[in-house]
Amino acid sequence: MTYLQEPPKLSESEVSYSVQEYYGLEGTLHPLPGDRDQNFLLKSPEGQKHVVKVSSLDEVQEILEFETEMITRLSNDTNGLIPSVIPAISGTSLVTHENEQGHHYQLRILEFLPGTLLAEINPRSDALLMNLGERMAELGSVLGAYPDHPPPRINFEWALGQAGNIMEKSLSVLDSPRRALIELTLKDFRDNEREFLGLGSQIIHGDVNDHNVLVSLNEENHARISGIIDLGDAHSAPRVFDLAIAIAYGILGTADPLLAASEITRGYYAEQPLLEIEINVLLTLVCARLGQSVCIASLRRHHGDTDPYHLISEADAWKTLSLLAAIPRQISSGTLRQACGLEACSQSAQLRKWLVSEDFKDVIAVPENPNALGILDLSISSRELTGRDSDDTADFSNRVFQKMRSDGLTLGIGRFMEPRGFYLADEFEGRSGDPLERRTIHLGIDVFQEPGTEIHAPLAGRVHTVRDNKNRLDYGPTVILEHSAPSGLFWTLYGHLEKASVENLKTGDSIDAGQPIARIGTYPENGDWPPHLHFQIITDLMGFEGNFPGVAVPRDRTVWESFCPDPNLILNLPLETTYEEPSGLYERRKRVLSPNLSLSYETPVHIVRGKGSYLFDVLGRSYLDCVNNIAHVGHEHPHVVAAGQQQMGVLNTNSRYLHGAIIEYAERLSKLFPEPLSVCLFVNSGSEANELALRMARTYTGGTGIAVLEGGYHGNTRGLIDVSHYKFAGSGGHAPPSWTRTALVPDEFRGRYRRDDPSRATLYAADVGEAFRQLDSEGHHPAAFLSESLLSCAGQIEPPQGYLTAAYEHARAAGALCIADEVQVGFGRLGSHMWGFETQGALPDIVTLGKPMGNGHPIGAVVTTREIAEAFDNGMEFFSSFGGNPVSTVIAIAVLDILKDEKLQDNAMTVGAALKTGLDTLMRSHGCIGDVRGRGLFLGVEFVNSREALAPAPDIAHYVVEHLKKRGILLGSDGPDHNVIKIKPPMSFSGSDADRVINELDQVLVHDFVHDRSLIQPKD
Ligand SMILES: Cc1ncc(COP(=O)(O)O)c(C=O)c1O
Repeated sequence: MTYLQEPPKLSESEVSYSVQEYYGLEGTLHPLPGDRDQNFLLKSPEGQKHVVKVSSLDEVQEILEFETEMITRLSNDTNGLIPSVIPAISGTSLVTHENEQGHHYQLRILEFLPGTLLAEINPRSDALLMNLGERMAELGSVLGAYPDHPPPRINFEWALGQAGNIMEKSLSVLDSPRRALIELTLKDFRDNEREFLGLGSQIIHGDVNDHNVLVSLNEENHARISGIIDLGDAHSAPRVFDLAIAIAYGILGTADPLLAASEITRGYYAEQPLLEIEINVLLTLVCARLGQSVCIASLRRHHGDTDPYHLISEADAWKTLSLLAAIPRQISSGTLRQACGLEACSQSAQLRKWLVSEDFKDVIAVPENPNALGILDLSISSRELTGRDSDDTADFSNRVFQKMRSDGLTLGIGRFMEPRGFYLADEFEGRSGDPLERRTIHLGIDVFQEPGTEIHAPLAGRVHTVRDNKNRLDYGPTVILEHSAPSGLFWTLYGHLEKASVENLKTGDSIDAGQPIARIGTYPENGDWPPHLHFQIITDLMGFEGNFPGVAVPRDRTVWESFCPDPNLILNLPLETTYEEPSGLYERRKRVLSPNLSLSYETPVHIVRGKGSYLFDVLGRSYLDCVNNIAHVGHEHPHVVAAGQQQMGVLNTNSRYLHGAIIEYAERLSKLFPEPLSVCLFVNSGSEANELALRMARTYTGGTGIAVLEGGYHGNTRGLIDVSHYKFAGSGGHAPPSWTRTALVPDEFRGRYRRDDPSRATLYAADVGEAFRQLDSEGHHPAAFLSESLLSCAGQIEPPQGYLTAAYEHARAAGALCIADEVQVGFGRLGSHMWGFETQGALPDIVTLGKPMGNGHPIGAVVTTREIAEAFDNGMEFFSSFGGNPVSTVIAIAVLDILKDEKLQDNAMTVGAALKTGLDTLMRSHGCIGDVRGRGLFLGVEFVNSREALAPAPDIAHYVVEHLKKRGILLGSDGPDHNVIKIKPPMSFSGSDADRVINELDQVLVHDFVHDRSLIQPKD
């Protein structure tokens, strides 16, 4: 993309004429973008394709000849990665044409390489990026074998070696935040210039940008690099320049440019080792290329150029540059070093070895009794933590010290590399704008001791800094000491100190080994933490002054671990002070749990904590839960937790004694129902509730016949599988018993009667009547019509208005009772009403409840009329060992309290409406969304392959669910064709949660797999 002059403007008719005259080729011409040449795609009548390149005679002839020769050689030596040159009839590769005005043009014709531009691939998978690295290594080694004497170029602003000059030239046209970013990039370039200019040179491609790289599917249907075009910028430079340029453009638009860069580097290194010095300058060069690109674009715009091709990567390049600039260079470089199998920090190995060989003074006096020293579990899953610990330091502190006392500890240790439950707060945000990872990984060791405990220097050194890092949840008063080792300087950090204890220390003071330097501080002056010392070893201060990160995002943890070696190398505590990530769970689970107990997602998530609408995995990665309607009032709601914990300590027994809780709950629950639904029976699950409801209906009616709906699921017992079409008609199912009849699912989108049919409600309802007629005719007297009020497993279906009342009429006319399964949709989820049947103005005889009732605690219920309850009381006792026990019922009472106090039904209505509006908007712009339906926080998005044929698209639903999970959003798919995404989050779901889902979904729906399936269908 050299910018020497305007591309030539030869008329299409003359190009056509020349192509035929000099090459004997015919066809239609389609202009292609070009920065310097005028390019065309030539399509012959037989469908053959070629690329015609027209250069102006201003182009240095020698350069064009060199370029043409390079293309010819490379095409041979790279097995078709580079397109070949088609010779003219005369046998030459380059033809000069004079037009009628006497202007001269040079013409070349190249082989057309099929494929999609890398720039158009969305997303760029790790495997594809790694393959880009591999192909770059291949290209680099072929180019390295050619004689290195390309003709010189003048004013070659795209040469990476010119990046510094270009950035300098553009400073005056940039606004101030951008100027600051370029100044930083420029300084880095100049600081390292001597390093990389000292590297040997060879011929390089010079412009492997994402518009010059082609991607195709290989035999295994994986997207891989299939072509590299445009040798117009080939010149002599260090070979690592080509890799840096490929990285700069390869990472554009990726979710994490650093990880994308490390994949490309990994691929390169796997094919062709890089020198350490090349790896070390790589990011400087990547940033310089990005800087050069945005500066050229800014200069062009400043000079009035608005050609979109010239400004093509600008916005993405700015964004990528600022994302990279926000990561300490040592960390980003360390990431690339690790991708090449090197230790991230080059001095660490030597320092660690030295630390192991040395003796150090105690930083804090270690108790003689080994049992007085112990680990405090502060990990994400720790039961000592509430997940809201940093909201109330006094309480947190009491709990920590109480735990120490009860364990007989005088010294409590918080581990190195531990993912921490209390770093889930906003203060510990990770990469800018990344909701998935916070800085949860602890890089030091914490020593919990009474405030005032003396802290000693473990080895001699000097005071580097003393600073009060006053922000809440920072270190408070902090000392950093500097020490010498054979590997060079290193530092030790002491955080959360007593302010008065460090007042006399100042930068430069010499410190002896064993010298008292500070005391443990207390909250709030210590950063507002329970009293402890944070001790950390640092090999590189990375430009931080008086402070240094003590926590890292999970994805960078091994890189940070290299820069901050294990503090126990100095502390020498006789304990396992490094956190071990749990492993082998999957295999263990497979060994001891039934194989048909499935796990969600291709790579299962190891969830260990919940809070509100969020779930957290073992490393503290946070996931927005959009599918768990059981955690109705939010995961681990403190009121629910406290209710259960307190009652557990008082009494938990069966319901054969008088107890206030079961009565209070039954009174409150029954008040939520219309008359005559007024009597409650308590069980432990939705399945048990439905089993009980069917027994009651059969006892009351004396019948056996049950009518259910297609796609329905009512529970996991044998009896309920027999009435759950979702199961008996699904995989592993069997024909239902003769006493079950299935009526049509009232699906007005893809069902038998659709929205264009005004009688659909009555037609669907009539099928219920028909089911009972059949049952009766086969000797199964009708007992019950069992259906969800809005259907979940059937694909989040809301029946047409009037359906339920009409269906109930048919059922009652046949002598059956109507059972509303409200296990999924009840308790205000629908926003407009407390119960699903109310949305249809229907009144069932029996209602079954489960999932949300105990917010995750197992409790279910049947609510019915006195008349039916009395008929059920036929002499046989009803008893459930756990049903309605005091713990379960106080928890269920807490759920009702929270629903009311936090106005969660209203929240479901407003947030659900906004979410549905957002989804409707997405449906307008994404053809694969066939239908958006539901109400409140019970919504469904149905994917189809075409809106005309309405063929279900389960692969799109699956893809969307998997990719949203990668972005920290948990969803699931359902429906008989598995093509419906179900959205039924905790009722605490907020407006911004809804916005996030819409945004992220919008982005995934433009992925190639979903959006343009003809383009490419990468599997990874
Ligand atoms: C509509 C419906 N009814 C009943 C059940 C069974 O409830 P449980 O799993 O608590 O036994 C479920 C469970 O998914 C359900 O979705």
